[in-house]
Amino acid sequence: MAKDPCKLNLQIMSFILLMFLGILIVTGCSAPMGNPEDGKRWYSMHNCFACHGPNGNDGKAPVVNNLGMSYWRFERIIRNAGSPIMPKYPEEKISDQDVADLYAFLKAK
Ligand code: HEC
Repeated sequence: MAKDPCKLNLQIMSFILLMFLGILIVTGCSAPMGNPEDGKRWYSMHNCFACHGPNGNDGKAPVVNNLGMSYWRFERIIRNAGSPIMPKYPEEKISDQDVADLYAFLKAK
């Protein structure tokens, strides 16, 4: 017996809808949660303070405390600031999680 074409369409539609929901959830949650306490450690461990100052606003380089930029912009700058002065920090040096920690630390500072 042939299936009711209306029911079949409904099944396909709900499947597609679920796929979209899944993609939305995955992309929405993919900015990792950072821990400001750990970020504080990475900030001194990677010598950020040498240029940006111990408080993020008292160095020679631009102010980085009280960050207003998005996580994604921040990550791009850490990986490659496009500056002759600020070093590039690839994932082997600062993991995605550590970038998230630094972001949480500087945003709250
Ligand atoms: C050797 C000096 C130096 C070190 C070390 C350094 N930075 Fe930078 N940083 C700079 C300079 C200079 C700029 C400005 C680059 C430009 O815009 O050309 C900058 C830019 C930035 C910016 C963008 C600021 C803005 O508002 O555009 C952020 C965020 C940042 N640094 C974070 C960090 C973090 C976090 C660390 C440690 C992991 C770090 N920097 C280490 C020199 C440094």
